[in-house]
Amino acid sequence: MPDRFDWAYSTTLMTKPQPLTRHIVSINDLTNKEIETVFQVAAGFLRELSDSKIPYRIGRGTAIASKYILASLFYEPSTRTRLSFESAMLRLGGANITSADPAVSSAAKGESLADTIRVTSNYADVIVIRHPRDGAARLAAEYSQIPVINGGDGSHEHPTQTLCDLFTLRSKNKGLKNMKIAISGDLKGSRTIHSFVYALARFGATIDPLPAPGMELPTHVDRRLREEFRCRMVSKAPNQADSIDALYVTADQPHQLSLYSEPEIDYGLVLRKKIDAVYVTRFQKERWTEKERPYPKIDAKFLREGKYSHASVMHPLPRVNELDAALDNDRRAIYFRQAAYGVPVRMALISLLLHLHRNKSLHRFIGGFAESRHPIYAQPIGRGVHCPNSNCISNDPAERQYAANKFYVIPKNTKPGCILRCLYCETDIEAEAAAHFVAGDATRKTFAPGIGVLVHAPAEKLRHLTIYRNEAEAEAAGLAPRDRRKRAGAG
Ligand code: NCD
Repeated sequence: MPDRFDWAYSTTLMTKPQPLTRHIVSINDLTNKEIETVFQVAAGFLRELSDSKIPYRIGRGTAIASKYILASLFYEPSTRTRLSFESAMLRLGGANITSADPAVSSAAKGESLADTIRVTSNYADVIVIRHPRDGAARLAAEYSQIPVINGGDGSHEHPTQTLCDLFTLRSKNKGLKNMKIAISGDLKGSRTIHSFVYALARFGATIDPLPAPGMELPTHVDRRLREEFRCRMVSKAPNQADSIDALYVTADQPHQLSLYSEPEIDYGLVLRKKIDAVYVTRFQKERWTEKERPYPKIDAKFLREGKYSHASVMHPLPRVNELDAALDNDRRAIYFRQAAYGVPVRMALISLLLHLHRNKSLHRFIGGFAESRHPIYAQPIGRGVHCPNSNCISNDPAERQYAANKFYVIPKNTKPGCILRCLYCETDIEAEAAAHFVAGDATRKTFAPGIGVLVHAPAEKLRHLTIYRNEAEAEAAGLAPRDRRKRAGAG
């Protein structure tokens, strides 16, 4: 068994040394090509190791991970994700160590996630983590020496579920292009939905949101779909100008497999096209204060509408009442197969992250986080503005000293010149909330209104800046208004 460090560095495909530790926190940490590689490898495992009677079930094993250990750190309930990860590791010939109940781990003694990860990353070769806080997987990755895979962090993302979802769609439709997918239920609280819509957009699918009342996609997800993944919102009732029903259609982007090239999108065609799959999600009651809300139910009656005649019915599971069990024998129901694919897909991901394949072309699956398209602004720990999401890991009192407030700086043409997006949970500080923000300069001991300076400031200068919520906060931190100082100097 080759040592993973030697392997990663010895391949001739690499022109320069790459960071060995690759983390999968968001579906956007994987390129489309890498996603296709995961599927290619998963399909290979299915070909070679499937149960002879059930082709979508892995029934046999290999020894390629025989000296490796997966650590499952689950701070929230799980059946499918944890068990399929652990089954995947065992089918690869590896071993598992598990902490699935925070009440019996050092979390109960108040240990921070950062410390738990620093310790665990010496006990295993890859970590899968599930946590109730948005952005927890990113914090874990920052403190880990080994690959961290996000098994679901709060309502942020669940990238490996999306890999299973796409793999299922791909096996059903023989491709991911040109699909129209309806997504139903709690689009706000479901992390599976957030990873899924980014991927659908990137692969050129049309998304038809069917949210429960008040559970639309979060503002920052909607913004990213439109601004980063070039989605267009199209009214489902084009003649009603005030209709809020909307479809997202992805425009063509270089290097991405998408259907419609921008000037030629035939919206009429998109609207008429039948639905390829309905993706149903549960009311995420653990993320809401109310325990019940009006909620759509997908059943035979719903699916009777002509546009659903060929629609596969998908669900990440568990289901509660939103998906009628009477559909289980319907030819369109594919949710149990979707759950079964958790094993080959996760076998593929683990084996690629650990560089276990002899085929050198698969060794390109390397690197740390994909380099951010936007500059990152990190504030000194304990100072400046916080992420507005109270469930973000950076707002967890136990993690505060390990998670500095860090933001992507997204330039905007409108005031205040940029949007700050939390690096952990990816929630945006909206422009209105930032209207009174001031930028403090620690070297000059001054502050000035606005945060536009973050867009243009060189990295060197960014380090001396702290963003405060308002002038009073900056003054309380011992800074003086830059203008006043200038005026005093002139006088
Ligand atoms: C999902 C999750 O945990 O986000 N389950 C899963 O991993 N398959 C969906 C859910 O809990 O509703």
